[in-house]
Amino acid sequence: MKTVTVSNGRHTLRMARIVVGDNGVSDPARQKFAHWCFDRYLELGGNCFDTARIYGGGRSEAALGAYLAKKPRDSYLVSTKCGHHDCGKPPLGRLSREEILSDADQSLRALGCGYADILFLHRDDIYKPVEEIMPVLHELVTAGKARVLGASNWTAGRIAAANEFAEKNGLTPFSVSQILYNLGLTTAAQTGDLTHVVMDGAEHSWYEENRFPVMAWTSTGKGFFAKTAVGLPMDPQADRYYGWLPENYRRAERAKALAERLGVPVSAVALSYVTSGPVPCAGVTAFSTEEQFTETMRAAELTLTQAQREYLEGKGECPV
Ligand SMILES: NC(=O)c1ccc[n+]([C@@H]2O[C@H](COP(=O)([O-])OP(=O)(O)OC[C@H]3O[C@@H](n4cnc5c(N)ncnc54)[C@H](OP(=O)(O)O)[C@@H]3O)[C@@H](O)[C@H]2O)c1
Repeated sequence: MKTVTVSNGRHTLRMARIVVGDNGVSDPARQKFAHWCFDRYLELGGNCFDTARIYGGGRSEAALGAYLAKKPRDSYLVSTKCGHHDCGKPPLGRLSREEILSDADQSLRALGCGYADILFLHRDDIYKPVEEIMPVLHELVTAGKARVLGASNWTAGRIAAANEFAEKNGLTPFSVSQILYNLGLTTAAQTGDLTHVVMDGAEHSWYEENRFPVMAWTSTGKGFFAKTAVGLPMDPQADRYYGWLPENYRRAERAKALAERLGVPVSAVALSYVTSGPVPCAGVTAFSTEEQFTETMRAAELTLTQAQREYLEGKGECPV
């Protein structure tokens, strides 16, 4: 599988262009299926698993860690996220020194991995100066608890400010960003969570200009394109994120037309949209069925041309 390079100078990771989420591994009813996905994913050359302190009611990391414990530590990458806000309290990341360090320690204990290849801050607190945050994250890297640092749901402007401060002060910068990015158009207001950061034109310009690596979350649009293409019932969340905008239905139609020409599933075209562009990008995704896994994984070897990506965006005729 093609890879995206994520580096802070001290550590360089070659992350598969498709990253798998926890797939409900902490749910006993879904564990067997999650393990099936993980096994097939590794066989296909995948190497990166994404989780977070809060996933699965706090049980995701331990369940994923139990699966990974049987694998050599250098055969996979694991990314996790700390600093999520307390639900029900003001929606700002919990980014005090104590909160970051204790979240990270809990994550590592649960994963049983010793270190996270990528440690994300799950959310930002825009009122907290980056000068207070970056030294704490640097401590985690120098202590060997995280190899590279990531910002999840941080704006490009905040990442740039954090990295400028880190560079000036000899601290570890962020090396990768995880934001909402897929073929669809949406907004944080539409997702219903104003702490989400969505890839839009201005954000994209910064990522493209800086060649800054992205891990796109909800990278297939929760199946919106694949399901629209064949008229399958839509998940309510996918409908809320994308169903409000007619252009998203047009994008689904174009994805279907391009998929037919290329002889690949629509979900593979949707995922390849984010992994084939000028921004170095891996797509984080998940599956409910073996068929979904098989379809979406066709994106592992699919690279869209610029003309094909532009067609999906509504610019020009359908190219072969
Ligand atoms: N950093 C963050 O704030 C953040 C936020 C959200 C997610 N994430 C990460 O991103 C991962 C993936 O997120 P996501 O689940 O939203 O990814 P996604 O790829 O957008 O959606 C996956 C869902 O799409 C549907 N699907 C997948 N393949 C399909 C196919 N071939 N045809 C039709 N439908 C298909 C399934 O939903 P159905 O069950 O409805 O069929 C599946 O559960 C998460 O596990 C997590 O690790 C991060």
